[in-house]
Amino acid sequence: MLKHLQFDKVSTVSQFSFIFEVSTMMQLVYVSSANTTFSNQELLDLLIRAREKNHSLGISGMLLYKGGNFMQALEGEEETVKKLFKTIQTDPRHHSTEVLLEEPITERSFADWSMGFRDLSDPAVLSTPGFTRFMNNPLTAETFRDDPTGCMELLNFFRQGR
Ligand SMILES: Cc1cc2nc3c(=O)[nH]c(=O)nc-3n(C[C@H](O)[C@H](O)[C@H](O)COP(=O)(O)O)c2cc1C
Repeated sequence: MLKHLQFDKVSTVSQFSFIFEVSTMMQLVYVSSANTTFSNQELLDLLIRAREKNHSLGISGMLLYKGGNFMQALEGEEETVKKLFKTIQTDPRHHSTEVLLEEPITERSFADWSMGFRDLSDPAVLSTPGFTRFMNNPLTAETFRDDPTGCMELLNFFRQGR
């Protein structure tokens, strides 16, 4: 009887935390500028560590790099995303982080990626079939200031692994 009760209590708590987690999911998109030109190896090192850590934190997203600028989408449990973003903001490898989009979500846009990545300076990426009007613009806040949904248009363009 006691065991049964204990089990019930645990399952209620985990059901609760599941509901809680779903209701507090958020997505945050920012742009920033690199402090130095990143070599392929430096980008790779950043990604390997970020993917490992994001996986353990339940964070998914997409990172774009172009000509010294980054755009990144982070999604997951609200407090976890905010805490990770604070860490990322103080990373000496970049500066001038500016949030473009910060909103609650009910489902992830990048669920298959612990952190997808595209280097838009790569000529192979520029010849990707399809079109997005932001492809040829710099990844800066100015590009997206008048059209905040534009960052999702660009990120979504690469979502399917294009
Ligand atoms: C543009 C940029 C994007 C980053 N994205 C992530 C990320 O998605 N996840 C992550 O854990 N670290 C990311 N980092 C690295 C963090 O700033 C930080 O170095 C790392 O989280 C610390 O890892 P640690 O806990 O092993 O010290 C990023 C750094 C930069 C410059």
